[in-house]
Amino acid sequence: MKVVLFFFFLMGLFAVGIFNYDVAASRPHGKVVSALMHEFLESSVKREARSVVMGDLNPISRPEAAEHYRYMCESCHGAPGSENPSLSKGLYPPPPKLHVNESEWSEGELFWIIKHGIKFTGMPGFGSDHSDAELWGLATFVKELNDLSAEDYTGFFSAETAPAKGGSSHDHHHGHHH
Ligand code: HEC
Repeated sequence: MKVVLFFFFLMGLFAVGIFNYDVAASRPHGKVVSALMHEFLESSVKREARSVVMGDLNPISRPEAAEHYRYMCESCHGAPGSENPSLSKGLYPPPPKLHVNESEWSEGELFWIIKHGIKFTGMPGFGSDHSDAELWGLATFVKELNDLSAEDYTGFFSAETAPAKGGSSHDHHHGHHH
């Protein structure tokens, strides 16, 4: 009898632990959970990205890649000269500022992350509606982003360098707002 009671006691603790877990994005995980999550993210991406077949790293022009970055990534991750993007504040885990340090990820790993996204975070996968060429262009762009000044970055969108507008073959509707 005692054993059975003890068993129920353990089950109860377990259930309370699971159902009371605080999922609010406004309150951060404790240090241990944060460290574990990052460890898990890193090993998972490194493992999955091993199967990525390297593509052409510069399949699209830099202004084109910058344009994609501006519409697809900047609202969360920011960019040189754009420090407090609109979506970054409410997201937890917070989207890291990709332009501050050189990325710890290789181009292949970046390609994988951008294509598939990261579960349980706000990081969307873009593979379903973007070509691999666009994703490789973005991976290369992210890898070089920390070398760009705010002027370099906005320079991509000035009249002379921006890709021709109108008749756009590519629209940016991902179900989130820009
Ligand atoms: C809706 C917000 C959102 C958008 C849009 C978004 N991301 Fe993210 N991204 C996140 C969040 C949140 C994380 C944090 C995941 C974590 O640290 O657990 C993340 C993580 C990442 C990481 C891993 C960073 C690291 O070192 O932990 C990379 C690389 C990345 N995003 C690149 C991009 C690129 C490139 C784009 C555009 C194609 C993009 N993201 C668009 C929210 C976003």
